[in-house]
Amino acid sequence: MIDDDLKNQPSRVDGRAKVTGAAKYIAEHKFPGLTYGYLVQSTIARGKILDIDSTEAEKKPGVIKVISHKNAPKLSITERPIPRPFYALTSPEIWFNGQPIAVVVAETFEQARFAAGLVKVTYDQQKSETNIRNAMAQGFTAGRDQADRGNPVQAFADAEFKVEAEYHLPIEHHNAMEPHATVANWEGSKLTVYEKSQGISGSVNYLANAFGIPAADIRVLSPFSGGAFGAALRSGPQLLIATMAARETKRPVKVVYSRRQLATAHGYRPESVQNIKLGADKTGKLTAIIHEATHNTSAHENFSEGLVGVSRSLYACPNVKTVAKITRLDLQTPLWMRAPGMVSGAFALESALDELSYKLKIDPMQLRLMNYAETDPDNGKPFSSKALRECYKQASERFGWSKRNPEPRSMRDGRLLVGWGMATGTWPAGQSPASARVTLRADGTALVESGTTDIGPGTYTTMTIIAARSLGLPIEKVRFALGDNDLPPSPGQGGSTTTSSVGTAVQEACGLVVKEIVETLGKEQNSPFAGVAVNDVLVENGGITVKGRSDTRISFADALKRINKENVSVLHRSTPNAGERSKYTIASHGAQFAEVKVDEEIGTIRVTRVVQGTAAGKIINPKGAHGQEMGGVVWGIGMALTEKTDVDHRFGRIMNPNLAGYHVPVNADVGQIETIFVDEDDKIVNPLGAKGLGELGLVGIPAVIANAVYHATGKRFRELPITPDKIIL
Ligand code: MOS
Repeated sequence: MIDDDLKNQPSRVDGRAKVTGAAKYIAEHKFPGLTYGYLVQSTIARGKILDIDSTEAEKKPGVIKVISHKNAPKLSITERPIPRPFYALTSPEIWFNGQPIAVVVAETFEQARFAAGLVKVTYDQQKSETNIRNAMAQGFTAGRDQADRGNPVQAFADAEFKVEAEYHLPIEHHNAMEPHATVANWEGSKLTVYEKSQGISGSVNYLANAFGIPAADIRVLSPFSGGAFGAALRSGPQLLIATMAARETKRPVKVVYSRRQLATAHGYRPESVQNIKLGADKTGKLTAIIHEATHNTSAHENFSEGLVGVSRSLYACPNVKTVAKITRLDLQTPLWMRAPGMVSGAFALESALDELSYKLKIDPMQLRLMNYAETDPDNGKPFSSKALRECYKQASERFGWSKRNPEPRSMRDGRLLVGWGMATGTWPAGQSPASARVTLRADGTALVESGTTDIGPGTYTTMTIIAARSLGLPIEKVRFALGDNDLPPSPGQGGSTTTSSVGTAVQEACGLVVKEIVETLGKEQNSPFAGVAVNDVLVENGGITVKGRSDTRISFADALKRINKENVSVLHRSTPNAGERSKYTIASHGAQFAEVKVDEEIGTIRVTRVVQGTAAGKIINPKGAHGQEMGGVVWGIGMALTEKTDVDHRFGRIMNPNLAGYHVPVNADVGQIETIFVDEDDKIVNPLGAKGLGELGLVGIPAVIANAVYHATGKRFRELPITPDKIIL
């Protein structure tokens, strides 16, 4: 639902290109003489390849070459000892089922796929373990454990009111619409690849390291992405394989992961088991939080994400203990997936808090307000801004929370049980150095360039809005280019930091363009701009006006004519104000309220209504922000109710590597979603005042739904997803 106040806001600048197909996705790019690589994957989860026999495959029409570890060129990056990332086709070792072990390159996709089925592999198979419960005894800490705050064990023992519970989240896959793909082409020593990537400089470095070639010889292009959600934060096997195959065959090669193959190669949210202990006094003041979490990594690499951080920072509590462990499974390495760590941890903490509210007979929102962290409880720093209290207030009022009967199973809609729940989310507001080039042309248009990516949240649009505002141009006069390492270097899209990082670079670069024009104009003979500084002017309606002297105005077109330039172009690198930032904790916050309707006879849960209140600094792109916060709710419905990757532990094989067996919410699963944005005037976070919100919108949602289901049914679900069978049984 688009609210009236959003109607006049800018729409996606790339929207038309995306819906008409003019925006080309990675696998749609071609080079003359393109060939096709099809992957052969392991059918065991652990062991060694004894032999790969590709004789029959190589005889088939169209087949150009079959490459496996037997004949692949040696790469310098594989010399590092384990633990290290997986590099395909570099050794006979099998780390997980579905591991790419060979690629068949052929003139057509069909020829490659057919021949791939004829490659014979023999293994020395070893017993694999993919069940986290069995592996948990071997859990270990990847980093350093954080020191306890206060005396949590004693405080919990002494607490008048207690909750202790275990929470379990399954493996979940990103399942973006666009498959991961690479199209690689060598021209002599120069390499060009189209790569589905959230960070093109990461892809460039990967290739430079893998093939021992200078970064200057590598061009990586990733102009449009059909979703990534973290799965393209690092390079998947296809980048290595396609590039290697192109070099070996001296032909351009395309490798695309099929939907079925996708579940095996680009990470996933790890499976996690968390134990939470909360202690409180009878007024509802938290006296102890103990949060212990284990999630899986692979057998060859130590991947860990911060599940327990949320318990250190979200509530004021004098006694806190957190323990974070990882454990090895014979699966591919997990990877960050939207709101990584935080959403899993928040599901546990926010569920436990809800449980505590019933024990205390205190309204769950009151309980949160009672323990509201005015300053960061973990380090005592002030928040740069934190309008969470206002989020609770506005979102609860919009939802009608005060009409809630606190008794579980007390609210009904005909034969359906109605449940109302609430929860909280937070996400750190990071910023990285970033660069942008802004070129203002004499025709009154501007080109803004930065080598970042847009995986869907609307970076094309947000950057266009920032530049248009900073230059006083209409949006249609500004074009923003990204996704190319020939453009000024910028961080990849991850951690909800692109607006903060790249947006700041764009805004500052625009300011420098205006400054250069004003200063150059000022040097002209008898210039009305003599002595005028950039801070003395307004940019509006395609030109510059001196503040308080509305007659001293010049259009950019005239200004450039006057100073005799076809364009003014500034390349600028912005850096965060680290000194100032370090004095504060800088984070976005949100409050969520949800209604579910549960049919106990057939076990269905409908999320009929969600109000998502968000405090994320200044909102630059209102429609985009609305879309992100809605998307967070939809994603959370999936996490809470439908999404789970099933592994057959006998074979370590994923059983539902497809959208038929892995259920993401569709339109019919999603009720009414309302978003509220509480403005924060934050002068610390960055010059834009904008925090991130892409991941924030998900953080509280699985908990808010589980909490609403408890209110509806009186049954507490600590294991996701809450599928119909669990309601019925
Ligand atoms: Mo996000 S998991 O930083 O793409």
